[in-house]
Amino acid sequence: MKQRLGVLGGGYVGLAVAVGFAERGFPVVLVESSEARFQALTEGSFFSSEEDLVKAFEKVKEDGIIHITNRVEDIQEVVYLFVCVGTPEGKEGKTDLRPLWAAVEQSSPYLREDACFIIKSTVPVGTGDQVQAWFNEKGKAVQVLSYPEFLREGKTLEDFRQPSRIVMGGDPHHPRVKELRHLLAEFSLPLLLTSRRDAEMIKYAANAFLATKISFINQMAQLCEVLGSDIQTVAKGIGMDPRIGQAFLAAGIGYGGPCLPKDMASLMEQGRMQDLEMPLLAAVTRINDDQRQWVRSQLRKQWGELKGRFLAVWGVTFKGGSEDVRESQAVSVLEDLLGEGVHIQLYDPFGLEPLKRQWESRGVLESYAGQVQWAKNCWESLERTEGLVILTDWQEFKEVDLQRLKTELPSAFIVDGRNLFYPSMMDQLGFKYVSVGRKV
Ligand code: UGA
Repeated sequence: MKQRLGVLGGGYVGLAVAVGFAERGFPVVLVESSEARFQALTEGSFFSSEEDLVKAFEKVKEDGIIHITNRVEDIQEVVYLFVCVGTPEGKEGKTDLRPLWAAVEQSSPYLREDACFIIKSTVPVGTGDQVQAWFNEKGKAVQVLSYPEFLREGKTLEDFRQPSRIVMGGDPHHPRVKELRHLLAEFSLPLLLTSRRDAEMIKYAANAFLATKISFINQMAQLCEVLGSDIQTVAKGIGMDPRIGQAFLAAGIGYGGPCLPKDMASLMEQGRMQDLEMPLLAAVTRINDDQRQWVRSQLRKQWGELKGRFLAVWGVTFKGGSEDVRESQAVSVLEDLLGEGVHIQLYDPFGLEPLKRQWESRGVLESYAGQVQWAKNCWESLERTEGLVILTDWQEFKEVDLQRLKTELPSAFIVDGRNLFYPSMMDQLGFKYVSVGRKV
């Protein structure tokens, strides 16, 4: 029988970790304390656009290898506890560590003396050491590990199954760490054993580097626009150098989501706390903030005044393949357009309900009611509009029937914030097509 594992937190990281280990035959206790999420997970009303995750989750539930509970007491038998609670942005970019400390305090009475408390959540450098000190003070021999997760939303299980590397920070000589290392060896993945502080820093530095690549390419796209070069060709050309690589060089309206923006803010705050300003990170953030103006400025070039215009908008989630609208750059652009008095017919394959909930919780749903129509499909969104704006890179949009689009959008005017189509092809089809950093 394989070791029993525990996972605290059934969000997108926790679920992928729980399902990923369970499908490898490890009995898993998944503790979810939010009543709504617990019910969704246990009653099968849980929703994700990730089909492989949903399938694998149903299978491990059916096989009884995963036990979902809302009682933290149920971790008593567990040797390895993976802590996957949210660490949202608090005031002034600081990371809100209350969920993590709640997890420490609530699990402590039930943790075995020889257990490992494994922090998967993204936490500021030094947090793992503080948690270890807390357990030491309580006289508990629990070993704390920092084992950051690098999976992407929309591909969580795929990334958990095949991560680029496993980074594990902790005492390499501790018997439990040695055992875990042995256990992970069966996955045949590159493993980097580090200190807790290094592991925590690797997570932030990786996300900051990805954000930097995106802002770099967006800055180059701005230059391409004025100098008449094509950013996609430029990205391809520079990416052919293996030192640069092709990934994360897609120009667009900028990055968003629940991770990159908050991790950039947290990293800068961690520097500031040590009197270290980081101008590069500040510039990356500023370029990203400015990039949301791109759509508005293209529309202004076409029409001047935007008030009273009727537009179709496709995409509200922070990227294609995810139903998440948190910190979505698409939502920021959309709100800018609404602020200009544009009337919008909105479509997204999975993001409309999450956006309604977000607007409701922010108290703005009512105020947008007169300006926004929620379309059931992409075609409905086009009725009587003067142009189309694309804000998210959904596969469904990439595969749209362009002949039909030409018929249903008489103005043929498209502002594409995600560079989904070839400009020359759009030109041939008779569209007036504007995209980021590219000319026809
Ligand atoms: C990101 C990292 O990629 C993961 O490795 C990390 O584990 C995760 O954060 C986390 O910290 O939990 P995620 O937030 O799911 O993953 O999304 P990404 O795929 O990184 O995309 C982030 C944003 O960048 C999206 O808005 C996307 O549209 C944008 N993006 C991405 C671009 O604008 N251009 C690109 O070339 C790539």
